[in-house]
Amino acid sequence: MEKKEMLYEGKAKQVFATDNPDQVIVRFKDDATAFNAQKRGSVDLKGEMNNAITTLIFEYLNEKGIKTHFIKQLNEREQLVRKVSIIPLEMVVRNYSAGSMAQRLGVEEGIKSPVTIFDICYKKDELGDPLINDHHAVFLGAATYEELDEMYELTSDINEILIDLFDKMNIILVDFKIELGKTSDGEIILADEISPDTCRLWDKDTMKKLDKDRFRRDLGEVTEAYVEIYNRLKTVLNK
Ligand code: C5P
Repeated sequence: MEKKEMLYEGKAKQVFATDNPDQVIVRFKDDATAFNAQKRGSVDLKGEMNNAITTLIFEYLNEKGIKTHFIKQLNEREQLVRKVSIIPLEMVVRNYSAGSMAQRLGVEEGIKSPVTIFDICYKKDELGDPLINDHHAVFLGAATYEELDEMYELTSDINEILIDLFDKMNIILVDFKIELGKTSDGEIILADEISPDTCRLWDKDTMKKLDKDRFRRDLGEVTEAYVEIYNRLKTVLNK
């Protein structure tokens, strides 16, 4: 397998073509951005940790029957994945109030929700990825109602598996964001990453934040938090 030209560069990752038209290489960077890239920085070891954490989580989800784009980890920063066209919707799941929802609704962070809350955001940097609803998504041509049903179901299944996995790590899965992609034969599968960049993860005993909020809110010990998540994940998965 040969690495070819860069196809795309995002805030935290690069994507490269390979000699196989159905496979691409994802490279995880240490660059960190927040608040629609108004805050920029770099977190030591972040790329390596997010690559390793996403690898362990996607392998685990694959074992549990969730279809993902993940094929294999190539090295400390890169993984080989199936090429998909990313559906331009961020699927956000919230089990507790936090972040933008707590702000928007004027509630404290950390309130356990009696229901699983799903938000969808339109992936559009110029607009700051606005919160939209299903009708907007259909209007925009991002997905059909049938596809949205499938996407919510897949997202909900992933949430159930991850709540349980993080619980074993003594961590509360407060909320997270995933991206879904369509394969060349039209199948909707999990793509992108699942890492402390894309989840809110709180230690159950101390409520310490072990995720990107440490960078967003200048809380310090950012690298340490990512390493902590990786170590706990390895322990519960016996890796
Ligand atoms: O900012 P907000 O509270 O809406 O974020 C909800 C969840 O989605 C958080 O876990 C956050 O890390 C994740 N997220 C993300 N990428 C974005 C926006 C949110 O991974 N562009």
